Amino acid sequence: MSQPTIESILQEKRLFPPSAEFSQKAHIKSLEEYQQLYDKAKADPQKFWADLAETELDWFQKWDTVLDWQPPFAKWFSGGKINISYNCLDRHLTTWRRNKAALIWEGEPGDSRTLTYAQLHREVCQFANVLKQLGVQKGDRVGIYMPMIPEAAIAMLACARIGAAHSVVFGGFSAEALRDRLIDGQAKLVVTADGGWRKDAIVPLKEQVDKALANGAVPSVENVLVVERTKQKTQMEPGRDHWWHDLQQGVSADCPAEPMDSEDMLFILYTSGSTGKPKGVVHTTAGYNLYTHMTTKWIFDLQDTDVYWCTADVGWITGHSYIVYGPLSNGATTLMYEGAPRGSNPGAFWDVIEKHGVNIFYTAPTAIRAFIKMGEHHPKARNLSSLRLLGTVGEPINPEAWMWYYRVIGGERCPIVDTWWQTETGGIMVTPLPGAIPTKPGSATLPFPGILADVVDLEGNSVGDNQGGYLVVKHPWPGMMRTVYGDPDRFRRTYWEHITPKDGEYVYFAGDGARKDEDGYYWVMGRVDDVISVAGHRLGTMEIESALVSHPAVAEAAVVGKPDELKGEEVFAFVTLEGDHTPSEELAKELKKHVVNEIGAIARPGEIRFTDALPKTRSGKIMRRLLRNLAAGQEVAGDTSTLEDRGVLDKLRGGA
Ligand code: WTA
Repeated sequence: MSQPTIESILQEKRLFPPSAEFSQKAHIKSLEEYQQLYDKAKADPQKFWADLAETELDWFQKWDTVLDWQPPFAKWFSGGKINISYNCLDRHLTTWRRNKAALIWEGEPGDSRTLTYAQLHREVCQFANVLKQLGVQKGDRVGIYMPMIPEAAIAMLACARIGAAHSVVFGGFSAEALRDRLIDGQAKLVVTADGGWRKDAIVPLKEQVDKALANGAVPSVENVLVVERTKQKTQMEPGRDHWWHDLQQGVSADCPAEPMDSEDMLFILYTSGSTGKPKGVVHTTAGYNLYTHMTTKWIFDLQDTDVYWCTADVGWITGHSYIVYGPLSNGATTLMYEGAPRGSNPGAFWDVIEKHGVNIFYTAPTAIRAFIKMGEHHPKARNLSSLRLLGTVGEPINPEAWMWYYRVIGGERCPIVDTWWQTETGGIMVTPLPGAIPTKPGSATLPFPGILADVVDLEGNSVGDNQGGYLVVKHPWPGMMRTVYGDPDRFRRTYWEHITPKDGEYVYFAGDGARKDEDGYYWVMGRVDDVISVAGHRLGTMEIESALVSHPAVAEAAVVGKPDELKGEEVFAFVTLEGDHTPSEELAKELKKHVVNEIGAIARPGEIRFTDALPKTRSGKIMRRLLRNLAAGQEVAGDTSTLEDRGVLDKLRGGA
């Protein structure tokens, strides 16, 4: 191999096949069935997707061309006419699902609401008419800055219904972040709420919108629609601001879904690049509908009796694809929760599971690590026996955290789907199909049928088994992002030019390192930007962190490289401890030894710093870039606007 890749040092051998009972009832029932699907899709991806598009979605008009591929720009189902709001709502109204719960919502203070498909359809149609009355038209952009309340989903579906693209901005983002995103997308209208509940306090969202729009900073915005949620006193600017409930009153519920071109823009979702301007990831209509529909169906193995709960915020792609569009397109019951586990109620999530009899639970490793830290007596005190399937997304999950999730939450009964994907991919790419693929703790297992993934070197050559490399996708798929909003050149540069095969093929790469084991299972090793280079060995962060987390005292760990004259870099570990352990010199020594025992001397941390908390993005990902600065004794450089809690950095500087 001519190019440096990443060395793999961790071995995890445990294997967990699904129970016969689970497999029997599952959509995809065996490894053979998965393999057949995979092979069929690989042999003719276009036919594979076209067949599913035909049987699984409703179209106003069939497409002419399945795939038009002008690398790196793809068009799926050109010539087709479709509407995702129709597929999520209207088509269920003529079936028994008409009065099935579409959305079960639980507010943080304990209030709840359930909307059937018929009720949700009615609300969406009315709100779509409100948007129209305010002059929103097909092709316009609408900003959505909302707490986790049903109106967030209603607003998204209403935009989709009339062909306006939504740009949801996470409610935890600041006024400045909101302003930048509204400007970039030239939003015509903003939907928000007076406030939302977060950890027992009100987040004053409308106030942030006012700040973002102050002094005419976003001239494109003509109207602001405000949901009354928290009922604190709220300034309304006459002529610009309107209460949702006022305008929704008496509006017609008749609003047929607009037939959209397959490739019409459905939404923009901004990802914060590590530096510079946020990227507006563009997703379009038909391909995204199909991809989120199929992945939801097969990966979460949705059955009609299930209550399915994804804990993400609608402000992230996981909320778009797996709270709203994927589940509703399948006619599922999707649960939406406003709250977070919090000091005052560490068992909040388990109460929700018990109260609503949740069957499928999809959350993030950062949440699982927080649960571990809070102690297993909280889940143990609740009845979680309704659960039958668990999932994770957002970061690599360390094998020991996986085992805890499996044992304590899943009662050793529930398969875990560790789903690897990105905002850019639209839907899940590498994942177990839970009735078919035996799982290994820490591995996202195998690619979804139709996803031609691989682990390669910089020239696009496959690397050998158990060698680290770059995780890439070699063929377009329906859910892929289409461009960066307003900047197609940035799209090409960011995702399609890092890996350069000699034959000039285009290969999608978005930053993760991985290895494939002898069974073809994928092990994501972390972002390649975070790779640590020790004495000529390039080590991924995930494996060293997993070794640390496998020690009983450790709740969470983040490792970075610290410049070292001799070795290039040395491993520097930031470690948070489980509740009943305290930092000490001895423990630091013991942890270093533990890493050596688990994976070898090469990964031995030169230094261990104990801390109460790690710096994370608002979606819960550890920001190793900042830790690198701290380890090197430098000032923290670059963009810190996505940091969840700035206090964490000050503590870390002080050595905590
Ligand atoms: C990381 C979230 C390991 C990865 C859907 C990816 C994961 C980035 C996993 C995308 C997983 C997500 N195992 N790493 N199961 N899932 N990641 O855009 O680094 O918020 O590139 O999308 O999260 O994050 P994004």
